Amino acid sequence: MRQSLVIANWKLNGDLNLVSQMVQCFSQDSAADYATDVVICPPAPYLSALHAESLACAEDAVNVKVGAQNCSEYTQGAYTGEIAASMLRETGCEYVILGHSERRTLFSEDDSLIAKKLKAAQQAELTVVLCVGESLTERENNHTIEVVTAQLAAALDGADFSRLVIAYEPVWAIGTGKTASPQQAQAVHQEIRQYLSQLSKDKGAKVPLLYGGSVKADNAEVLFAQTDIDGGLIGGASLEADQFRAICRAVKG
Ligand code: 13P
Repeated sequence: MRQSLVIANWKLNGDLNLVSQMVQCFSQDSAADYATDVVICPPAPYLSALHAESLACAEDAVNVKVGAQNCSEYTQGAYTGEIAASMLRETGCEYVILGHSERRTLFSEDDSLIAKKLKAAQQAELTVVLCVGESLTERENNHTIEVVTAQLAAALDGADFSRLVIAYEPVWAIGTGKTASPQQAQAVHQEIRQYLSQLSKDKGAKVPLLYGGSVKADNAEVLFAQTDIDGGLIGGASLEADQFRAICRAVKG
């Protein structure tokens, strides 16, 4: 059985009030009613508050796990503005998102930097949510699998598969309202699964594969029902507690 995961990526949004609202919302539900783990990745200044509020919830309630949106490839030193993976771990983070298309395009992060960050994160015992995905032009030119496989190959050399989640996020579906159809998403996930199994026969099959890109409460269930889709990485719809909760509940056991 693969682990199911629904992860909120707040990007540069949210505040302390939203942290409390989210934890409150999930604390009313019993963990037994969820077939998925729930992770929230707020901006870094809110990580400690999210961790503290989540810890304060009842034991049988849904325990919201904490993730970061980025980390440094460095462990310490004169790198003003950077945050080391070990520091994230100390604030209660279990996950870190790396390779998001916004980091790749807006902050010029290339495959080699992403590979270094991945190693640093896993060394600090974080589970890496590695994002891959093609642009619209790449899809239209039938290069989707080639692009996604190249991104995986570049980042995963020497990676620890037991601390790894892959998020397939087609760039054309992020924040656009255009979701990949369940069939389109499944087709790419199946290729990713095969590729990971080639890299590691036993562990590749167990890596959770998430879909991201305009997932909403009304399309989540059919996406999550696909054979190789183990949950989602949610942007806009994770900023509203009721909608995010509904997406989490769309994962069926
Ligand atoms: P949206 O859900 O807003 O399309 O964003 C997806 C995403 O980029 C999550 O990392």
